[in-house]
Amino acid sequence: MSVQEYLDKHMLSRKIEDAVNAAVRAKTPDPVLFISNHLRKAVPSVITKVKARQILDSRGVPTVEVDLYTNKGMFRASAPSGDASGMYEAVELRDGDKGMYLGNSVNRAVKNVNEKISEALIGMDPTLQSQIDQAMIDLDKTEKKGELGANAILAVSIAACKAGAAEKEVPLYKHIAVLSGRTNLTLPVPAFTVISGGKHAGNNLAIQEIMILPIGAIKFEEALQMGSETYHHLKAVISEKYGAQGCNVGEDGGFAPNISRQVSLFVKEGLDLVKEAISRTGYNDRIKIAIDAAATDFCMGTKYDLDFKSPNKSGQNFKSGEDMIDTYKELCTDYSIVSIEDPFDKEDWEHIKHFSSLGLCQVVGDDLLMSNPKRIERAIKESTCNALLLKINQIGTVTEAIEVVKLAKDAHWGVVTSHRCGETEDSFIADLSVGLATGQIKAGAPCRGERLAKYNQLLRIEEELGDHAVYAGEDWRQ
Ligand code: PGA
Ligand code: ZN
Repeated sequence: MSVQEYLDKHMLSRKIEDAVNAAVRAKTPDPVLFISNHLRKAVPSVITKVKARQILDSRGVPTVEVDLYTNKGMFRASAPSGDASGMYEAVELRDGDKGMYLGNSVNRAVKNVNEKISEALIGMDPTLQSQIDQAMIDLDKTEKKGELGANAILAVSIAACKAGAAEKEVPLYKHIAVLSGRTNLTLPVPAFTVISGGKHAGNNLAIQEIMILPIGAIKFEEALQMGSETYHHLKAVISEKYGAQGCNVGEDGGFAPNISRQVSLFVKEGLDLVKEAISRTGYNDRIKIAIDAAATDFCMGTKYDLDFKSPNKSGQNFKSGEDMIDTYKELCTDYSIVSIEDPFDKEDWEHIKHFSSLGLCQVVGDDLLMSNPKRIERAIKESTCNALLLKINQIGTVTEAIEVVKLAKDAHWGVVTSHRCGETEDSFIADLSVGLATGQIKAGAPCRGERLAKYNQLLRIEEELGDHAVYAGEDWRQ
């Protein structure tokens, strides 16, 4: 091919002339930069490469990280991970070779991205999120993404979402809002874990988390300050009562003091510590309290064992579903509790429904729902609970996450965008919570890098939105 033929074939003279003319019209002070940007925009952006690798999450357990390339650059995302809660969630593909990371390596999931998924997505437009997600779902062919692995699929889905935002030259949260058909963006009320128990900590506390919600903050920045100050006051309160060792932290950064094993006290001793810390800050009623009981973990048959972590427990303190309802009622009366997550076992639909009907607080379904659309639909129909805990790795794609949030919102439920106990530095859920205006986010303590990656990103988003930023505050459930 001659030089002239090459120029003609790619219409190079025309395109360069157009770019030069545009620079002249714009009277730009930096014409070379302007022309290069102008030319770059003229290139249709497509996915050119998808490359995965195995990294470690915050617990030191392998997970999948993906670098997705378009003509605009490289976009990185990773999949979080938690304890599997059951047969209704998307499958996290692990190699199961006991000689590698105790069976937890994810080399097969990585290989699936590098070969099958990459091949299927190359050439696709990164702005078409639902088509990208559908292509992976079609490729997987199983109901729970067990063939390719939800960890592989989700990391690619998030990376594609970031690439789509870059292609449209809009912030990630705005791109997500457009994908979901919303116009209002909201900074969520953070639910900071301040005390850890259950499976997340080695103390006596049966319930998994005590959280604080700075509902009365004016903006997210203030909410973070209120959360941080309370956290540090709590450290002092705990230290005075239990010594420095009481300030050891659980998996997502909450303190894990060895509270009394007296079952009659249940969680009250922990709640009293939090109440004292809040009163020391002076924020008082502007901070509310939430609990994640994660009761599936201490349900034995039809009874609840609040002493389940004790090695020499008597077995005499098991509580019935009715006893648990009475306990929660008492807690809601004695403390400013506004939300209880998983108050009963994931299959105990009867007691959670009864408790919800009392209207004492928001009742969140986490293990109960597993972010599964069928379980959410059933819970809506039967008025089992009134809020969704959104764990995106239990669904496996951004598109399906958007759909379940829509389901929940159409039913006038609250929505809590959630992290997992195994997190990475990826801050995607921060943008997701703003773009989907979920009103609530749960990302652990105001402490530890992988938790702060989310909260700090929310600070940046609020700053960027400036006067347009709306903090959910009192409207946290809408
Ligand atoms: P998980 O915890 O990631 O261990 O499931 C989060 C939660 O229960 O809310
Ligand atoms: Zn939970």
